[in-house]
Amino acid sequence: MLTRVAVLVSGGGTNLQALIDAQAAGRLGSGKIALVISNRKAAYALERAKNAGIERAVLSKYMKPDPDDYDAALLDMLRAHGIDMIALAGFLGIIGPKVLAAYEGRIVNIHPALIPSFCGMGYYGLRVHEAALARGVKVTGATAHLVNGEVDGGPILLQKAVEVQPDDTPETLQRRVMEQAEWEILPRAVRMISDQISNGRMN
Ligand code: GAR
Repeated sequence: MLTRVAVLVSGGGTNLQALIDAQAAGRLGSGKIALVISNRKAAYALERAKNAGIERAVLSKYMKPDPDDYDAALLDMLRAHGIDMIALAGFLGIIGPKVLAAYEGRIVNIHPALIPSFCGMGYYGLRVHEAALARGVKVTGATAHLVNGEVDGGPILLQKAVEVQPDDTPETLQRRVMEQAEWEILPRAVRMISDQISNGRMN
């Protein structure tokens, strides 16, 4: 039994690509990417979805300025496509209470640091790596976790460490964390939750 996955994106979509590649290689278990939703219509991630023949949609805050309306519209879209679980792959919007309640324990996020370091409100994208370099950490990495009402606060599923190099810039560090950690653990975490759902082992 397949688990229909919606991938939510905002940017370049390299993590979406890692999921697409994992599915093509048979590494997504029961997970099937059924829909890609972007909150930015210019996101390159939408091109990646198109190239892979995956249905895509845009839901931006310009279309639904009120957060409650956005939450309701997102839930409608997910339900209309029979979505079983959600993967946040560089999604920079906030998931509202209706979607959180409907998909409790079924929303996976990838964060580009070892939670609880460099996480929470304001820590996203390159900022995370700027903060890691400013603090002088020698090891950073990525975390795949379940999403709850607290930013980056849900249960941790998988983590992978990555060494910081002395000459790293935020950009070089971001790239290494993606290559060595994010693109590996996000598909594994999606597989983990989708297999749990398809095996009917969710409580
Ligand atoms: C990734 O590094 C992801 O971990 C990060 O944004 C980037 C998106 O890249 N997400 C966050 O910072 C969420 N707090 P992508 O669009 O190429 O996947």
